[in-house]
Amino acid sequence: MEKNEYFTLSNGVQVPAIGFGTWQIPNGTAAYDSVAFALKNGYKHIDTANAYGNEASVGKAVRDSGIARNELFITSKLPAELKTYDMTLKRFDETMKNLGTDYLDLYLIHAPWPWNEMGADYTKENIQVWKAMEEIYKSGRCRAIGVSNFNVSDLTAILESCTVKPMANQIRFFIGNTQEEITRFSKQHDILVEGYSPLATGKIIGNETLEAIANKYNRTVAQLSIRYVLQCGVLPLPKSTTPDRILQNIEVDFEIGKEDMNFLNSLKNTDNVLFSSKKKV
Ligand code: A2P
Repeated sequence: MEKNEYFTLSNGVQVPAIGFGTWQIPNGTAAYDSVAFALKNGYKHIDTANAYGNEASVGKAVRDSGIARNELFITSKLPAELKTYDMTLKRFDETMKNLGTDYLDLYLIHAPWPWNEMGADYTKENIQVWKAMEEIYKSGRCRAIGVSNFNVSDLTAILESCTVKPMANQIRFFIGNTQEEITRFSKQHDILVEGYSPLATGKIIGNETLEAIANKYNRTVAQLSIRYVLQCGVLPLPKSTTPDRILQNIEVDFEIGKEDMNFLNSLKNTDNVLFSSKKKV
């Protein structure tokens, strides 16, 4: 990543262009050490969630880093199961306490439905939750608010009823899984798309076709995949607990050529088999 590269939200807030993802990093030493290492080595943006259970270690690593709070960008998320106005305000306070910070940079609704009811219609509830998100934003305790895993209809319901528009939508995004409809819709509404699992939770690594392309640029498949997300105009959130990978994942200051982009864009992972083996795609 070029130093000082940012995306800008609709309210003018700047977001460092690569975030350090912490999904599946356990609270305690693993989360503390990996976030501390990331911060020491150039990451300015950390993505966590109340549901990850690691806010306390993430917050401690942030505080211990010695980096001025206003130079960092910290995101957390409201658990998908909490769908009332009151629960939203209460859990936001808990997140702030866990993180030990007096403001958050971005707060997201983790999903439009509880995880064990994926696809269920929680439109009415999400509108109530969004009112609490707006209140948090207006109070100044959070610099931006948004959603995660929202599709077009989920987002439309919020846009039709809100006084503050969501500024980001965090979705699963990697080569072959670019969720075109919601990505286009979000961008049309000036909502930043953030991509979690840019390495398909690691499954993309070792794919021979992608390795051949990455080799052309003298990069790894991970770097190619992260750079690809950036060139799609989406903010990547790679996760790693391995120091050399954490370093590698932010060194993506190169340009994937047009022909290779066209090829990567043509890959479709609709049946989820694209990266189920190391075979060529
Ligand atoms: P680890 O944390 O053991 O380093 P995603 O960001 O798509 O969720 O992918 C995360 C997975 O990819 C983790 O299993 C992580 O392993 C692995 N990973 C992250 N960065 C790299 C890399 N540069 N090379 C290989 N594997 C990586």
